[in-house]
Amino acid sequence: MISHNGIKGDPLLMIPGPTNLHPRVLQVMSEPQLGHTGTKFYSEFVDILDLTKYTFKTKGNVIVFSGSGTSGMEAAASSAIEPGEKVLSLETGFFGKRFSSIAEIYGANVTKLTVPDGSEFDPGTLDERMSKGSYDVVLMTHVETSTGVENRVKELVRIAKKHGALTIVDAVASLGGCELDFDDWGIDIAFAGSQKAIAAPPGAMLMAISEKAIQKIQNRKTPVKSYYYNLERWMDVMKDPHIYLTTPSTAVLRALRVALQMVKEEGIEQRIRRHKELSDLFLRSLKSANISIFSNRPSPTVTAIKVSNATAIQKKILDMHNIMVATGLANHKDDMLRIGHMGNITEEELLMTLFALLDILKQTGQNIDVAGSIGVFFDRIKVTATA
Ligand SMILES: Cc1ncc(COP(=O)(O)O)c(C=O)c1O
Repeated sequence: MISHNGIKGDPLLMIPGPTNLHPRVLQVMSEPQLGHTGTKFYSEFVDILDLTKYTFKTKGNVIVFSGSGTSGMEAAASSAIEPGEKVLSLETGFFGKRFSSIAEIYGANVTKLTVPDGSEFDPGTLDERMSKGSYDVVLMTHVETSTGVENRVKELVRIAKKHGALTIVDAVASLGGCELDFDDWGIDIAFAGSQKAIAAPPGAMLMAISEKAIQKIQNRKTPVKSYYYNLERWMDVMKDPHIYLTTPSTAVLRALRVALQMVKEEGIEQRIRRHKELSDLFLRSLKSANISIFSNRPSPTVTAIKVSNATAIQKKILDMHNIMVATGLANHKDDMLRIGHMGNITEEELLMTLFALLDILKQTGQNIDVAGSIGVFFDRIKVTATA
């Protein structure tokens, strides 16, 4: 069995989260349990909040609690939307649809604007739609992990704000890997999960929240219909992390702290640049092999490609190369593969993944240009070496 990352037998994770953990992150999870009310955990939690601000590029308020990415969706929808409010949901795939459903569960009057799978949401269409009717809130997904598309959030937020709506951005698959400037773009709420481009284990939700969103929540006419997902309760805890609300997943949060420290050590701008360069290289290599890219605006964190028999190909890549890639979701289970290249993925790991993919596609009789594709990678290495 090929061994990756020095961990015998375990596959290299090239899925769109969870991502491979750095030894520094692994190490902190094996330390003795800390008391969640003790001074050490308290000071580490304050660090987490500062580092979360740095990663979102905000000087304002952030909230971190135990939960997955979906808990961010649920907390934002239950707290910032009141029953009956008019919500425009920009659905660019599976996770956009999930967001609509959650908003509906909390009583929102949701208008769903759906684009064909693989397409970004066109900002012009949003402008046109919002010129014809007013909406309280606009929901959008930054990177739609199910199709590998990156939406132009900066532009979409600008338009939604121009029309007076509150903006909620699902940044689960983008924070730490894609350009995202919470304050400069004027986003009201953005949330992420720990297990994607931040490269921490799953189990922590990170959120940035504007003053406008906080005021909206504080001035609600109806109570929030949730205990755990009530952001007002969490804001009190963020102001004073000594307050007991629930028992946090201390090991996951301590690992998150180390992963966020690594984001800061690398520098957020450099990290975003690295993700972009790596994904551009991967896209060029795939195109040279004659492999079709699923999305019309590919994300720097995940690439979706069109293949037939995706489930069988995924299994062969795992069995023969010990690399785990993902199939598509829902109706794309068998016509799409998704390769995650976020977090701490290196050029070498991406090259191994490309090679494994080409190997299996070739073995299954597909007409692809292996030499041309690998050549793109080696050309790049040559350029780097001579630069
Ligand atoms: C864009 C997006 N939103 C939401 C989620 C849900 O996150 P989780 O599975 O951590 O609950 C995911 C998970 O892949 C995602 O990619």
